[in-house]
Amino acid sequence: MRLSILASALAVATQVHAKGPFLKTIGPEEHIIGNDIWNVTIGKQYGTKLFYKNRDIVGNAVGHYASYNGAASDLSWTTVSIHKQTKDYLDISFEAAEGELHWVIQPELAGAYQYFVNRALPILGEFRTLWRLDNTTFFNGHTSIKDEALPTSADIAAATKVQDETWVKEDGTYITKYDWQALLRDQEYYGVYGPGFGSWYINAGKDEYNGDHLKQELMVHRETATGDVVQLNMLHGTHFMASASDAFPVGKVWGPWLWYLNDGSLNDASHKAKKEISTYPYPWFDNDAYQSRGSVSGKLILSDGRPASNAAVFLGDNHPNETTLDMGRYYYYTAYTDKAGNFQFKNVRTASYAFQAWSNGGAIGDVSTTFIKNDVVVTKKKGTNLGHLTWKTQDRRNIFQIGDFDRTSLGFAYGGAPHQHALVVNCPANLTYTVGTSKTSDWCFGQSAKGNWTVKFNVPKLPNDSSAVLSVSLAGYSSGVSSTIVVNGATTVGNLTSANILTDPCMYRSGTLAGEWHYYEFPVENGALKRGWNTLDFQVTRETLWHGFMWDAVALDYA
Ligand SMILES: *[C@@H]1O[C@H](CO)[C@@H](O)[C@H](O)[C@H]1NC(C)=O
Ligand SMILES: *[C@@H]1O[C@H](CO)[C@@H](O)[C@H](O)[C@H]1NC(C)=O
Ligand SMILES: *[C@@H]1O[C@H](CO)[C@@H](O)[C@H](O)[C@H]1NC(C)=O
Ligand SMILES: *[C@@H]1O[C@H](CO)[C@@H](O)[C@H](O)[C@H]1NC(C)=O
Ligand SMILES: *[C@@H]1O[C@H](CO)[C@@H](O)[C@H](O)[C@H]1NC(C)=O
Ligand SMILES: *[C@@H]1O[C@H](CO)[C@@H](O)[C@H](O)[C@H]1NC(C)=O
Ligand SMILES: *[C@@H]1O[C@H](CO)[C@@H](O)[C@H](O)[C@H]1NC(C)=O
Repeated sequence: MRLSILASALAVATQVHAKGPFLKTIGPEEHIIGNDIWNVTIGKQYGTKLFYKNRDIVGNAVGHYASYNGAASDLSWTTVSIHKQTKDYLDISFEAAEGELHWVIQPELAGAYQYFVNRALPILGEFRTLWRLDNTTFFNGHTSIKDEALPTSADIAAATKVQDETWVKEDGTYITKYDWQALLRDQEYYGVYGPGFGSWYINAGKDEYNGDHLKQELMVHRETATGDVVQLNMLHGTHFMASASDAFPVGKVWGPWLWYLNDGSLNDASHKAKKEISTYPYPWFDNDAYQSRGSVSGKLILSDGRPASNAAVFLGDNHPNETTLDMGRYYYYTAYTDKAGNFQFKNVRTASYAFQAWSNGGAIGDVSTTFIKNDVVVTKKKGTNLGHLTWKTQDRRNIFQIGDFDRTSLGFAYGGAPHQHALVVNCPANLTYTVGTSKTSDWCFGQSAKGNWTVKFNVPKLPNDSSAVLSVSLAGYSSGVSSTIVVNGATTVGNLTSANILTDPCMYRSGTLAGEWHYYEFPVENGALKRGWNTLDFQVTRETLWHGFMWDAVALDYA
């Protein structure tokens, strides 16, 4: 009650001055917020009537909301209040039982900064804010890797549904929202636009997102049930993961990120994003934990003396019990080492972390091990120098390797190709790869169909102990496909069996780069290999259309 009186008093004040950011309460569950450039009417859950340049750019669409676990729970605002007012901005808090969504509105900015403070979110996989916008204003989507018209409702209506959010057209091509996925941490800006209008998300920080360098999310799409143009802000997401449920500490903050409106210019959005990134972390954000940051640096050397060039480095959960991709309760930092193995993380929140490193291919693409150092302490305004770190490699004599260890399918046919449904159907059922003459790109990014993929390799001199280790690294896996691994048609060294491997949707949701990484080592007993030509088969014994193994690398080494 007290808060809404305050709000109305401010509204009166705003009308008098007719300038600047405002909160205007027009009913117990209806508020208008904005500034002279834009405004939106926010009800119990949804923000509608988004006026910008004299047009309602939500129109018949659902508008703005926050939700978790798919569409299962849309947050309901119980209290709306002014959290803070300065000469530069008005910070308005929409409180729900689960937490507070803030809109930080400046007088001259088209759009607003937003942030969410956790109070009681349940353990969840998916948590997001989003705009569902007018489809006569916005027609195109834009991400770091895709810029084109969204499929229309008419296109979708004329096609035949083949699986979750996926349709086949008469010409045999597919329409699916999953084509609009991208690596979250690669985004400078993304959003939707049309003639004269653009709506963008610019998240300069990204440390609040779950996952690592390879965390992918759905960014924009056409809502098929309603025709709305959707601009997603996946704060915690699972669209391309096996399992990623997290419990969040009370007070965890996502953001501030910028929701930005313009005339549809990509150049302007890009320029704005660069400016935001250069001023991150935002000095105006009044939150001690957010402002309390230090840095971490060091140099990684492989145990064989090579510099750990261009390695993926990560600061995440201390003494972790989850993979780097699956982490998500706290804050995460990603970087790459330089050629000499030097790394630096800037603007790291003060806390204790585990530092991890793994090969990102290239000069160290033969390294299958992961480096980890726990108890890395980050202190406010201090640099934590980890010095020279020695990363133990697997240190084995290699017989052959196909593909770089980098947790992705890059290098193989279709590896990292533009996202497209059912690409794995183009990979052969039977394939022969001859070490020494075949190229990496002769191996396909995914194996799905019943058949045999055979590696032929020559062993001119067999050691008297020919015990070996077969390393199989998968960039991802979608269940329903099983294989048996056989050496020289006689020795079964292992299997990759559905139900024993955590499944993720990468293969059947247009993934071409990665899903969840899986790494296996299978011992090859002494005597299984012979002098001269040998074979290694991946025999697929069970198939499921569009599912299967996404390869990262295969290596055979003497034990
Ligand atoms: C919101 O914007 C529209 C269009 O510019 C304008 O007519 C309306 O008065 C604005 N609402 C408020 C509360 O300022
Ligand atoms: C926009 O949505 C309407 C339904 O509200 C639908 O009939 C129309 O086809 C959609 N437009 C596009 C371009 O998809
Ligand atoms: C990891 O540990 C946390 C407690 O720190 C626990 O809540 C969580 O369930 C654990 N996750 C797994 C996958 O075991
Ligand atoms: C794979 O090769 C083995 C051995 O040659 C053969 O028995 C099996 O039928 C083949 N599998 C398929 C699916 O072709
Ligand atoms: C794969 O090879 C097997 C023989 O090993 C053969 O029976 C099968 O027809 C082949 N599959 C395709 C799709 O060519
Ligand atoms: C390999 O040769 C060495 C001597 O050169 C011998 O000690 C060892 O037992 C041999 N190992 C096997 C598996 O035959
Ligand atoms: C796969 O390998 C495991 C471990 O060796 C074994 O227990 C299991 O029976 C094998 N499964 C199949 C289907 O061969």
